[in-house]
Amino acid sequence: MDRYLVFGHPVRHSKSPFIHTLFARQTQQELEYGLAEPAVDEFAQALRTFFAQGGKGCNVTVPFKEQAFTLVDRLSPRAKRAGAVNTIKLTDDGVLLGDNTDGAGLVADLKSHGVTLGDSRILLLGAGGAARGALAPLLAELPSELVIANRTHAKAQQLAAEFCDLGPVTAQTYEQLAGPFDLVINSTSASLQGELPPLAPALIHTDIAIYDMMYGASDTAFISWAKQHGARQTMDGLGMLVEQAAEAFTVWRGIRPGTKQVLRELKRNLGVI
Ligand code: ATR
Repeated sequence: MDRYLVFGHPVRHSKSPFIHTLFARQTQQELEYGLAEPAVDEFAQALRTFFAQGGKGCNVTVPFKEQAFTLVDRLSPRAKRAGAVNTIKLTDDGVLLGDNTDGAGLVADLKSHGVTLGDSRILLLGAGGAARGALAPLLAELPSELVIANRTHAKAQQLAAEFCDLGPVTAQTYEQLAGPFDLVINSTSASLQGELPPLAPALIHTDIAIYDMMYGASDTAFISWAKQHGARQTMDGLGMLVEQAAEAFTVWRGIRPGTKQVLRELKRNLGVI
């Protein structure tokens, strides 16, 4: 049977095996999908061993995405832009192809929630790996403006400079931000520590869409905060998780699984509904 897995550290709580097992059942593909948690300095060796032993493809998550970028034979254009690899496929001619489906997953999830990206003003919070992966797919949707704000302003400036050939992207400090924005995407890891990015509450209004790439059994700190200040449409990163997985599954198997039912089952599994 064709073998796939996700590399990460820690990875025990990953939902990827659950999601891909449902995709395989739904599309009647014969495959198995597992977990691998190599020591941080043993990822390269673990990856080589997996493919030497017949593995067909893998996902890569924290903290190995940047290292995976350097280990594959060939990169997709979107992985090259993202500077990170979350999906690897062994091609029929034995080439390890590195791809990145995170940004496509974000855009697919936003669209599935009915969020309009074309001609919109988007505020992207954070300038780390998650922001970098999102930029090209967001700019491809032709927003009127995309502003990056980051605690360390220099990193936002660097990202804006790197992507300004793709669209109207600028960097502003949190203090400089002036609304109204149509959509705020939180790509910071602040919610992990229960912290908030230092965003002025005045930027939140009833018609704004709020997206937090993080997710949990209950609202993230950022989503709770945005709701308190009047945001009516809030979304967490669970949908993005399922959509990036669907994109990876499509890369491997050439068949696109449906995501709605899988997302519902995942929510049930997490105790969200
Ligand atoms: P990832 O790969 O998930 O993007 P990362 O590269 O470590 O992770 O980036 C984390 C991002 O969250 C950074 O933009 C970081 O801001 P700095 O560049 O200033 O470090 C941001 N971040 C983390 N904690 C934050 C907090 N409490 N408030 C605001 N931004 C925060």
